Amino acid sequence: MTQATSSSSRPLRVSRAGSPLSGTLSVPGDKSISHRALMFSALAEGKTHITGLLEGEDVLRTADAMRALGAQIVREENGNWHVTGQGLGALTEPADVLDMGNSGTAARLLSGVLASHGIMSVMTGDASLRRRPMKRVTDPLAGTGAVFLAREGGRLPLAIQGNASPAPLDYRLPVASAQVKSAVLLAGLNAEGETRVEEPVPTRDHTENMLRHFGATVQVEQTPEGGRVIRLQGRPKLTARDVVVPGDPSSAAFVVVAALLVPGSDVVIAGVGLNPLRTGLFTTLREMGARLDITNERIEGGEPVGDLHVRASSLQGVDVPADRAPSMIDEYPILAVAAGYATGVSRFRGVEELRVKESDRLASTVALLEQNGVHTKVDGDDLIVFGTAGAIPGGGLVETHMDHRLAMSASVLGLVAQQPVEIDDTAFIDTSFPGYFGLLNQLGAGFAA
Ligand code: S3P
Repeated sequence: MTQATSSSSRPLRVSRAGSPLSGTLSVPGDKSISHRALMFSALAEGKTHITGLLEGEDVLRTADAMRALGAQIVREENGNWHVTGQGLGALTEPADVLDMGNSGTAARLLSGVLASHGIMSVMTGDASLRRRPMKRVTDPLAGTGAVFLAREGGRLPLAIQGNASPAPLDYRLPVASAQVKSAVLLAGLNAEGETRVEEPVPTRDHTENMLRHFGATVQVEQTPEGGRVIRLQGRPKLTARDVVVPGDPSSAAFVVVAALLVPGSDVVIAGVGLNPLRTGLFTTLREMGARLDITNERIEGGEPVGDLHVRASSLQGVDVPADRAPSMIDEYPILAVAAGYATGVSRFRGVEELRVKESDRLASTVALLEQNGVHTKVDGDDLIVFGTAGAIPGGGLVETHMDHRLAMSASVLGLVAQQPVEIDDTAFIDTSFPGYFGLLNQLGAGFAA
């Protein structure tokens, strides 16, 4: 099990960038799509080839779990992967506990799969994941007839007795969460009849898109209130289909903000996924005055993709509406760094979901900024950041609490702060963005990592 022990932690001191960032790069594959590609291909009949899979620790945990459930998963020498599945309902009981590491997506999506197979399994994770709420998935999934035994507060480790003939669910999400939506839909795959999920605000739709790609019938309707209703016909025949994973916009976010803030920078990030339910950060940065252009737009593997051209810009404060949150939920820590460097005040509305991410990201983002001399205020579920007009004092120690996005946000803040910034641990960056420091150094960031 991964532990945040001092022996495995990787502290880092980051100093102001001495020169502009420049060059062209691509970022690793999309984490959400990578998890889904491994899980869904393991449920399909035949051999799926996956190109561009993210080889971050989170996704490797999903690969291990699907192997433990009977799928054949192989990494080829050229970096492509292939998965051979036996078809829906054919997973076999794992011999040991499934360790999902740091990954909430892996744990929550897999719960839906395990609930709808007649096998017994136990799932755990690292100290961060064992703190995160699972009742948001086990409550609806119990309606399938599966039985869950969890620790106090519905936390991991979690024992699951799945049901080989699950009942289909009809569920309205109480929180805007693509993970919960996906868990319900995945349980519905092996259920006779129609599974229906209603979401109050649209969340990323990679599950819907990829299930269709593998042959399922998924219908989506808008509700008059601006939400969506998703209907899945149970027991489809899922057939192996190749998957191309685009670059992760949530990883590109750190490079984009670094290039916007480090004076004189000019960077191109090629092949970034631009699913409209993921691009709230780019919309927001443009509202702040970012020179961020999208070129070479195309469809690859069923998802919109483009190249991002970013030039250093002077940014103004921004007011981000609550209904944009699902389309940029992982990007608030790095947006907070941009807002801290901007001129004027920013308000991020309705960001309560940040409290249940890899860390309590509302508290840890506030601490990141305050430790480095940027003033903030939490007003109910809103975060307010008082911009320093390009004069972030820095000099603080950032505690990252096993949270990769906190660590990367702190590193970008360090590139533009007046005094060096200490980061307690950068090891968790490997969960989503292996090679982060090397790539940024190719642009001229000068990290000592
Ligand atoms: C994800 C959904 C989001 C996001 C996470 C990945 C997914 O979580 O924070 O990093 O792949 O479905 P929620 O759906 O719980 O907001």
